[in-house]
Amino acid sequence: VGIRNGFPGLLADRVQPMTWEAVEGWAGLGGAELGTSRSTPTSDEEYVEVGAALERNSIDALLVIGGHRAYMAARRLASNQNLHPGLAIPAICLPATIDNNLPGWEMTVGADTALNEIVRDIDRIRQAASATRRAFIVETMGRKCGFLAFMSGLSVGAEEVYLNEDPPTLARLNVDVAEMVEGFRTGRTFHLAIRNEQASPGYTTEFLRQLFTEESDGVFSVRSMIVGHLQQGGSPTPFDRAHAAGLAAFCVDWLTGQVLAGRSDWHYATTGDGKKHTEPLTQVSGVYDMENRRPRDQWWMALREVLSTLSWQPPSSRSDEQSGGPGAG
Ligand code: F6P
Repeated sequence: VGIRNGFPGLLADRVQPMTWEAVEGWAGLGGAELGTSRSTPTSDEEYVEVGAALERNSIDALLVIGGHRAYMAARRLASNQNLHPGLAIPAICLPATIDNNLPGWEMTVGADTALNEIVRDIDRIRQAASATRRAFIVETMGRKCGFLAFMSGLSVGAEEVYLNEDPPTLARLNVDVAEMVEGFRTGRTFHLAIRNEQASPGYTTEFLRQLFTEESDGVFSVRSMIVGHLQQGGSPTPFDRAHAAGLAAFCVDWLTGQVLAGRSDWHYATTGDGKKHTEPLTQVSGVYDMENRRPRDQWWMALREVLSTLSWQPPSSRSDEQSGGPGAG
């Protein structure tokens, strides 16, 4: 059963049976097909409405597929199960968002597809720019989670990645600009910076474009590109399809066990020691920074050193082993 288009109001009308025929061909489509984006219950009245609809439709377990808002709504419902008997059923959250900002999994469903879209676009830009001396600033989505910016930067060999977790500062931009000028003066033809959309409230993509242009000293030109909503589209990658299927199977098995045991826990799917398991949603704040909407510990942050090693270094700061010539990396 799917609940389309969220809350509030007329919830009963939005509960639709999902037969084999109804989902035929969905494997190649994005998750938006479920139609559940954005709106979530916020008041006691809406929780009661949800409970009543679950009861009316004889729903005995809930698989919640979504991102931050879905997790937070489920967490609030987990603490309010007493509001309506219909809420006394088990539920589990399955991480699905392009932002890869949820606790429990290295990759949320959808993140790999978005990353592929971004990398494809940047590779095209690099090709198009190869005949010019040009610096590019590419802005990616992700809210305050730098995964998409960082991993695309690592994948395409960006010189700089500006993240909310590691934001641009005046001192850093000073060094970056000096290195860009040195690079173009000594034969480079391309410089790539990736900026997460919420890396910094003041040092916006447009600000960086103007700053780099002003400081270019006529040696290079600067362009910016906001990848935008293309990141949310695209045909799901095989990794995402298989990952989603494996996760969903695990969640459904867990829910079945809960129902058979007469339990009504509200958990989220997670991993540890190489195994899938679950944790109570009520305890998610221990591992999840709810204000910044990202896990407290992000595995990919450990790769920052790798990115800076692979990115172009000015001859003045290169050690002997690193001297791969202009454009190395
Ligand atoms: O949460 C997914 C996401 O793609 C974010 O990375 C982005 O900021 C946001 O949604 C954009 O969606 P909208 O245009 O609806 O705000």
